[in-house]
Amino acid sequence: MAKVLITGGAGFIGSNLAHALVDNNEITIVDDLSMGKKKNIEDIDVKFYEHDVCDHEFMHQLLSKNKFDYIYYLAAVSSVADSVVRPLETHQVNQESVLDTLEYIRVNKLPIKRFLFTSSAAVYGNLPDFPKKETSHVQPLTPYAIDKYASERFTIDYGHLYDLPTVAVRFFNVYGPRQNPDSPYSGVLSIITKCMKNNKPFILYGDGSQTRDFVYVGDVVNALIKISTETKESTVYNIADGGETPLIDVIHTYEDISGIKLNINYKENRNGDITKSKADITKLKGIGFEPSWPLRSGLKKYWDYYSKL
Ligand code: NAD
Ligand code: UD1
Repeated sequence: MAKVLITGGAGFIGSNLAHALVDNNEITIVDDLSMGKKKNIEDIDVKFYEHDVCDHEFMHQLLSKNKFDYIYYLAAVSSVADSVVRPLETHQVNQESVLDTLEYIRVNKLPIKRFLFTSSAAVYGNLPDFPKKETSHVQPLTPYAIDKYASERFTIDYGHLYDLPTVAVRFFNVYGPRQNPDSPYSGVLSIITKCMKNNKPFILYGDGSQTRDFVYVGDVVNALIKISTETKESTVYNIADGGETPLIDVIHTYEDISGIKLNINYKENRNGDITKSKADITKLKGIGFEPSWPLRSGLKKYWDYYSKL
């Protein structure tokens, strides 16, 4: 049984990862529940600390006491728009806490098997080259993207400079069960799902022509496990489906699946919003990964889950 720490493990992706790992691992979760929910993990056997990862003393004690084999670093303020409103606060968690953890591991020579940091497609910005490869130029346009890029570089360079077993991933737009829909900054598909179920109006920022590479959370979890356990290099991987869909088309497909017409109110584009996003996942496929849930079947699975809650 490996000892696994998931920061942000009560959140959307972290809790799905915990469910996938819990049978064969001893799992510890740190989450301040700012976005995560206890109910996401209450049906599994994990050690849970409701705590802020920016409390360095707390994290140091936890790390030195437990000697984790695997650390999945997912705790973050995950909203791009929120980081534009609160750049300094979001920087503390999205970058400072990551660096502090890496530094504590380095200085104390903690015997980790892998430290995995979760970065974002947001680092690519609005440059015109598509699809985005891991080697494409980056253009971080928001505090969120700047912090993700910096933390990703720290993660990889701690691998190269100090021989720590690190790796970073860039998620594109992840959707599926347990994504918290209750904040105006929540992921768009969780908000749409909730609006559909409760027959509430949905605010669409822009005209819906912005594209995203939506990837189902089940695929993301499988990719995270594969990368952390089956690769060795300190490098970065895109995690995505490899498709590109305008938001308005996603809405139409979802309406078709649910049989419910979404009531849309249009508003101006959000500040810093990316207009186009699509991943090249050749590198991920190179380690034997294939996405299992294309958009339509992922949306169906999500709707089946949510409509029964
Ligand atoms: P999420 O908001 O559901 O999960 C993040 C978790 O971190 C939440 O449970 C939140 O309560 C917790 N958290 C926030 N600040 C904290 C703090 N100071 N101390 C302790 N816990 C704290 O978001 P998610 O979609 O599950 O994202 C997980 C990771 O993946 C994040 O790092 C996010 O930036 C990254 N990411 C997500 C997506 C996506 O599409 N969902 C895409 C790219 C990158
Ligand atoms: C998302 C993730 C971010 C990740 C990035 C990677 C969340 C909250 N954000 O950001 O962590 O790093 O993908 O690609 O998970 N929109 C609306 N109405 C709404 C909400 C959103 O029209 O109520 C629009 C947005 O303006 C945007 C699109 O939907 O154009 C997607 O928004 P969002 O789900 O917040 O995702 P990203 O900003 O792409």
